[in-house]
Amino acid sequence: MDARQLKVEAARAALSHVSSGMRLGIGTGTTADEFVRLLAEKVATGLAVIGVPTSERTAALCRELGVPLSTLEETPELDLTIDGADEIDPALTLIKGGGGALLREKIVAAASERMIVIADQSKMVETLGRFPLPIEVNKFGLRATEIAVGAAAASLGLVGPVTLRMTGSQPFVTDGGHFILDASFGRIPDTRALSNALFAIPGVVEHGLFIGLASAAIIAGGDGIQTVHA
Ligand code: A5P
Repeated sequence: MDARQLKVEAARAALSHVSSGMRLGIGTGTTADEFVRLLAEKVATGLAVIGVPTSERTAALCRELGVPLSTLEETPELDLTIDGADEIDPALTLIKGGGGALLREKIVAAASERMIVIADQSKMVETLGRFPLPIEVNKFGLRATEIAVGAAAASLGLVGPVTLRMTGSQPFVTDGGHFILDASFGRIPDTRALSNALFAIPGVVEHGLFIGLASAAIIAGGDGIQTVHA
């Protein structure tokens, strides 16, 4: 099975946790897209759910495929969020934000009773950090924030390049109008300490460490589906 098929299988398994009447947070990324496609098929045959998308990109796909949408303003309490991840450790701490939607993803996950992560097995790691950590920052004072991020990480023994995410020749801009720094610190043994250190920097809007948010991960691999509970 190729990587895309594994994403489809994880998404299909997650669909069994969705029932009529649910208020659903809907994630962002290629795996979440597969979930939206399968969800739309169910909606077309009568499943009644309302979705809150975590990005403009996901909102557009939902609209195109006929998945009914709400906003977090109208629907501030959600039953379940289904989303992908860039890395997942055994305690279900995640790195997210490869697609740039981390801020809305975290707000939506935090507003949900449960979050189920869907992924292919390549996303499972013993220790987070192989994937560069996305950090969403205010545009104002970018360089000062960049320096502060490097210093905060160094105080925890984490060293590595912190680079501004680009789209072609322009900085990537999130749905919230911010920039993203991708921090290649390598292994992050203490995610809580790094999270606290980053949140102490005023220019940091959010970071891609999702700690204590995921209730389960559905992982698709060559041997089938594995569900990991927090
Ligand atoms: C979006 O900002 C991310 O958090 C995605 O959920 C994450 O990058 C996983 O994306 P893929 O499913 O495309 O790997």
